[in-house]
Amino acid sequence: MTQHQDPHCLYDSKELAETLIDAETIQHRIQELGAQLTRDYAGSRPHLIGILKGASVFHADLIRAIDLPVSIDFLAVSSYGNSTTTSGEVRILKDPDEKLEGRDVLLVEDIIDTGLTINYLLSVLHNREPRSLKVITLLSKPSRRLVNVQVDYIGFEIPDKFVVGFGLDFEQRYRNLPFIACLATPIE
Ligand code: IMP
Ligand code: MG
Repeated sequence: MTQHQDPHCLYDSKELAETLIDAETIQHRIQELGAQLTRDYAGSRPHLIGILKGASVFHADLIRAIDLPVSIDFLAVSSYGNSTTTSGEVRILKDPDEKLEGRDVLLVEDIIDTGLTINYLLSVLHNREPRSLKVITLLSKPSRRLVNVQVDYIGFEIPDKFVVGFGLDFEQRYRNLPFIACLATPIE
């Protein structure tokens, strides 16, 4: 793969195929999700835990679209390394800083693919006795699911394509794109 490493370029256009979701569409959907969460969590103080690193961009925009006294935290799990396939093995690299007991916890993900990551996290976090535990994801690839996991809020359902941008990376690049794009070369 040709890789253009000019640090002044936002991205190498040769590596990206079509834009799947443009910036305006993403922002509009986040406002809708924020309004829905504001209604659903009315009277509560939802605790939004972003899953690093991918969900950080979505998390930052989402919390500002919620008109409630929210609190935030982050957790980190082992990623797929520099590959785009999953071994199904998930490890927590960084635990949330705050206690979850009795709180209305909302896990914020960038994308749910096989469902293995979120499935594992839900089982671990349930044991910390939150009052409620729900999942919101910007993207979902339903055709790729290996486990049946309940996802409470979904920004966009997308086809089985490897995507980058808005927090999602390929080998740690493209997280800063304000839109979601497909990679030009299908990768395994
Ligand atoms: P799951 O355990 O297969 O659901 O994996 C979810 C994680 O895989 C996401 O949090 C991403 O880090 C990564 N991932 C899955 N699909 C993509 C993609 O199309 N682009 C970038 N990262 C992806
Ligand atoms: Mg992730």
